[in-house]
Amino acid sequence: MNMKGIVLAGGSGTRLHPITLASSKQLLPVYDKPMIYYPLTVLMLAGIRDILIISTPADLPQFRRLLGDGHSLGLHFTYAEQARPEGIAQAFLIADEWLAGQPCALVLGDNLIFGEDLSAVFRAAAVRPEGATVFAYQVRDPERYGVVQFGETGEVVDILEKPVAPPSPWAVTGLYFYDARVTEFARAVKPSPRGELEITDLNRMYLEEGSLHVERLGRGCAWLDAGTPDSLLQAASFVQTIQTRQGMLVGCPEEVAYRMGFIDADMLHSHARRLGKTELGRLLRDVANGVHA
Ligand code: DAU
Repeated sequence: MNMKGIVLAGGSGTRLHPITLASSKQLLPVYDKPMIYYPLTVLMLAGIRDILIISTPADLPQFRRLLGDGHSLGLHFTYAEQARPEGIAQAFLIADEWLAGQPCALVLGDNLIFGEDLSAVFRAAAVRPEGATVFAYQVRDPERYGVVQFGETGEVVDILEKPVAPPSPWAVTGLYFYDARVTEFARAVKPSPRGELEITDLNRMYLEEGSLHVERLGRGCAWLDAGTPDSLLQAASFVQTIQTRQGMLVGCPEEVAYRMGFIDADMLHSHARRLGKTELGRLLRDVANGVHA
C-alpha cells in the first residue's frame, strides 16, 4: 500500500501577529522560499507523491495558487479546509475519505528538517507496515513541545504535551508516520483541556499498544520550526548559510522531485527557466546540469 501524506498548514499563527493577521504563516518566506516548501519536501523525500494540503478556508486558495495540482513536480495535490484550528489530530478526520484506509504521514507546515541521509530514514518509516513512527530531537526548551519520557533502559515510557517540568530534552518533531488504522485512532481522541484534538494523545494510543517507534535525530540533523519571530529568522539564516556556502538547496521541491525521479532533467530545466534570473533558478540549473553531487 502506498503511503499518502498530509501537510497541515492551518491555524491562526498568533505567535507571529501582526505578520499573520492578513496572511498565512506557512506562506511566509523562509529565506528564498515559502515556508510550506520545507515540510513538503520532507514528504517527497519519504517517497510520498499523493499529498493533501489542509489549511483555513481563507488561506486555502493561496496554497492552490502556489502549488497547483502538482503534476509539474510529478505529484498529486488535493486540498481540504479546516474550518477551525481544533487540533493537529483533526487532520485525520478531515482526511478520512481521501485516505480511504491507507497509511499516512503528517507534517506540520512550519517544520523544517534537514540532514544527511534523512531520505533513507523517512523512507524506512514510510514502509513500516504496523504502528507509528515519530522523531525526537534534543532542544534547550522542551517545554514548548511534545516531550518523550524515557525509562531506565532507554525505553519510551510516555509522551507529554508541553510539560511544565520536561522529563527529558527530547522534543517530538512535527513529522509523524502512521499505519492504516490512524483515522480509527483519531476518532477516539477526546478534546484536551485547551479544547484541541492533540497529536500527542494519538501518539500515546500507539505507545500504549506497544507500536510507537521513536527515532532520535542526532547531531547531523537540523530541526527548526518557524512559529515565532526568532525561530522564523533562525530558519531563514540556516537556509541562507547552507545555500550560499555550499551551493546546495534546502527545501526545494523542484530539486527533490528530480533527485527522487519524479521528474526528468527537461522538466527541471523548465522550472529553472520559470524562476528566471533568481539565484534559486541558477542553483536549479546547476542541479539539472549535474554540477552538484
Ligand atoms: O512542532 C512540533 C510540535 O507541534 C510538537 O512537539 C507538539 O507535540 C505539537 O502539539 C505541536 O506543538 P505546537 O505548539 O507547535 O502546535 P501548534 O498549535 O502551534 O500547531 C502546529 C502547527 O499546526 C501550526 O503551524 C499550525 C498548525 N495547526 C495547528 C492546529 C492546532 C493547524 O493547521 N490546525 C490546528 O488545528
